[in-house]
Amino acid sequence: MKISVIGAGYVGLVTSACLSLDHEVTCIDVDPRKVAELNAGGCPIYEPRLRETIDKGNIEFTQDLGSLDRSDVIFICVGTPCYKGQCDIRQVLAAADDIYRSTKSSKTVVIKSTVVPGTNDKVLDVLNAGVICHKCVSNPEFLREGSAVEDFLHPDRVVIGARESESYDLLEQVYLWHDCFIHMDVVSAEMAKYACNCALATKISFINEISNLCEVTGANVNKVRKVMGTDPRIGSSFYEQGIGYGGSCFPKDVEALIEHGRWLGCPTPLLESVCDVNDNQYTGCLTKLEKYLWLKDSRVAVWGVSFKPETDDIRHSPAVEIIKELLGSGANVRVHDVVANPNLYAELRSWSKKTGISIATVEYYEETDPCEMTKGSDALVIATAWRQYTKAKVSEIEPQVIVDCRGVLNGREAIKQGKCYACFGNPNNS
Ligand code: UDX
Ligand code: UDX
Repeated sequence: MKISVIGAGYVGLVTSACLSLDHEVTCIDVDPRKVAELNAGGCPIYEPRLRETIDKGNIEFTQDLGSLDRSDVIFICVGTPCYKGQCDIRQVLAAADDIYRSTKSSKTVVIKSTVVPGTNDKVLDVLNAGVICHKCVSNPEFLREGSAVEDFLHPDRVVIGARESESYDLLEQVYLWHDCFIHMDVVSAEMAKYACNCALATKISFINEISNLCEVTGANVNKVRKVMGTDPRIGSSFYEQGIGYGGSCFPKDVEALIEHGRWLGCPTPLLESVCDVNDNQYTGCLTKLEKYLWLKDSRVAVWGVSFKPETDDIRHSPAVEIIKELLGSGANVRVHDVVANPNLYAELRSWSKKTGISIATVEYYEETDPCEMTKGSDALVIATAWRQYTKAKVSEIEPQVIVDCRGVLNGREAIKQGKCYACFGNPNNS
């Protein structure tokens, strides 16, 4: 099958690469630098297995919209950022307009970007403004950064929201190696994506709230979670306490659904609280640090910048918020991250211009051994659970103060060695 994918961001690239293992794919992006880098054998994002999948597949990258009219199916995978709390679908509508202007025969257009319920209808209006009658399908992505290729090739489900039975059949031919299809109408498919991400975000805020209560009551959150997990109705997965969720999906999706509900006159107080809990959660790290340290002129090492391990994505990363707060308090900060430092550097430069807060003393470490780079620091903050950090030996960490926001170290060992060790939810209470 001939497939075009509009958008070479996280989702567009993974979709293009995986589909190109079975189909002839053209991935289109307006950004000339991205297209040039991909054609030169590079990859604009760090995502495990992505470049090798691209290299195995039948795929071309271009800015040219010419392939759209030669395609059987066109995927829309452009960004849907949060704008004033709302899901901004302008890029999706622009892609639909590109399709409308560049095609002379009827196409099946598939929206993979996360869009608020009702967007498919709007896209269909743009596509069908002329005489050609296109079809528009909603096929939300459930790709976790860091394991997106794996998730695409081995999904739990492939949701197909369509208006006609031919669209279900066509999409099943696109995903020919899958057998976990769920058919439904378009608006339910759009809503299902938000429901999934909001449910996951709710679990995280819930466990963080319980974890905060454990800290003031003396209970141990790991034991509490163990008990919760013995009830299959509750489960124990995706209940890791810490500095909260970040990334390009949960923060914007929860906010967008709240705003959409407000606009529809259907308030979502539960989701508002999920958001509030998360927005405050990272401050727990600073409170713990300030128990042991006067931040002004202190030297703080931070392990981890990305919003989670195995990605260079720093969008809404709680680690970045912590680094900014430390800098704002006058601390000298040195950071270690496996791949996200270039993104942090760019972010801090624009933040410094806006706020006037100096970033001159920030030091960046990537290849240096994480323990080695802590030498000379007063404290270590662990903000992202990269595998490298989970392997670190407490005895090789120099700073006396350790705030382990993701619970990666052996806390009991740290305490035994006389460190001022703090983490979330009292997991070391006996
Ligand atoms: C996007 C959405 O934001 C998210 O909600 C959805 O679930 C998955 O897709 P992401 O892939 O991370 O996320 O988007 P982003 O990294 O912003 O990439 C979008 C790409 O589309 C960019 O490279 C941009 O240049 C390109 N684009 C945008 C086009 O090629 N044409 C357009 O008209 C607009
Ligand atoms: C998410 C969805 O999981 C995925 O299905 C898709 O819809 C895109 O959005 P992603 O944002 O890549 O994927 O990461 P995810 O693994 O879901 O983690 C999101 C954030 O939650 C991270 O900051 C992570 O550190 C945090 N998290 C996750 C917790 O704080 N505790 C947990 O138990 C799990």
